[in-house]
Amino acid sequence: MFGADVLFSALHAVVFGDRQHVKSLKKLLDEPDAEQILAKLKSDYRNDYKFSWRYLDQLSQRIDEINNHNVFCPFAAKRNQLYLNLLSTVLVKVNLEGARVLDFGCGKDAPFSLAAILLANGASRAFAIDVVDADLPMACRALSRAATDMVVRPAEWRLSSRSAADIRARALAFDVFDVTPTTVMPALAAMGLTHSVGSLEACADLAPIDLVMSVSVLEHVMDLPAVVATFARVVRPGGYMCHTVDFSHHGTMFAAHEHQWQHLTDETLRYGVNRHRLSDMVRLFAAVGFDVEIERHIVVPPDAAVRASLLPQFRDASDDDLATLQATLVCRAPC
Ligand SMILES: C[S@@+](CC[C@H](N)C(=O)[O-])C[C@H]1O[C@@H](n2cnc3c(N)ncnc32)[C@H](O)[C@@H]1O
Repeated sequence: MFGADVLFSALHAVVFGDRQHVKSLKKLLDEPDAEQILAKLKSDYRNDYKFSWRYLDQLSQRIDEINNHNVFCPFAAKRNQLYLNLLSTVLVKVNLEGARVLDFGCGKDAPFSLAAILLANGASRAFAIDVVDADLPMACRALSRAATDMVVRPAEWRLSSRSAADIRARALAFDVFDVTPTTVMPALAAMGLTHSVGSLEACADLAPIDLVMSVSVLEHVMDLPAVVATFARVVRPGGYMCHTVDFSHHGTMFAAHEHQWQHLTDETLRYGVNRHRLSDMVRLFAAVGFDVEIERHIVVPPDAAVRASLLPQFRDASDDDLATLQATLVCRAPC
């Protein structure tokens, strides 16, 4: 819990709009119990004429606005919309009615949200798998927020032939608006959502899967051939996968870097990525029979100096492999 000074400065910032407000609010938003903080603010300052309810409401509204526009915020509507946009090419090909879907590498902060949106759109079973456990307080918050968003604006979450009224009814039936770490597991089971922590290969009862999705995961999978072999086993004939992959240097948050190929210049600079390039992944999927379509999102050719600095195994990489920094691979299993 933050001290009164941080809360005070955040409140001030919002009310008076000074330059610190983004910083202070960000700290405030990192606190999983922002609602509790608001409640504390309300009770601490309720008798102070400077902190009228109007200002407190303003604070809560601003927090909401900022959350909703921050794609890095696990419970932001904007984040879920961005992820669904990445899936849009495949969603027009897949019939979600009764489908079994898998969010591979669902992460720890919002591991249930995408699966819940697909379930509200008619999927009958969803699996969310990661090698790391969920941050349950955050995950619950993200789930209840996603469900609330679907109730409030169902048309914006319509990905299938289901009507907006249907989506609202499904989201209401999930009944996860006040879900907590102690109540979430039965709530997920009632929705048809299984969350598993561990390797995909060890996960039982997955098959047959109609749609696999992953965002920023494949570049982190150290034994990619084993995972691809498992996909080939569990995706039903004619089923789809949609993997968005980030091929750029991942150390940008931790250390100074010169360019997006830094991890290909130094064996010690991996930051948890496998360094497969686009064509490596396409080859792996093709080898087990998947048809692969590529959507390139970020393409930046490296200059000659960068190319010359690459480790020997990357120096002969194709222009396309080096230039493609983010792409979505849409894969179809053989029929
Ligand atoms: C950058 S995060 C992305 C998480 C989530 N998809 C998101 O967009 O918020 C990468 C995730 O891949 C997971 N991951 C890495 N290797 C994995 C594996 N073999 N099986 C499942 N998940 C894996 C990591 O634990 C991590 O949660």
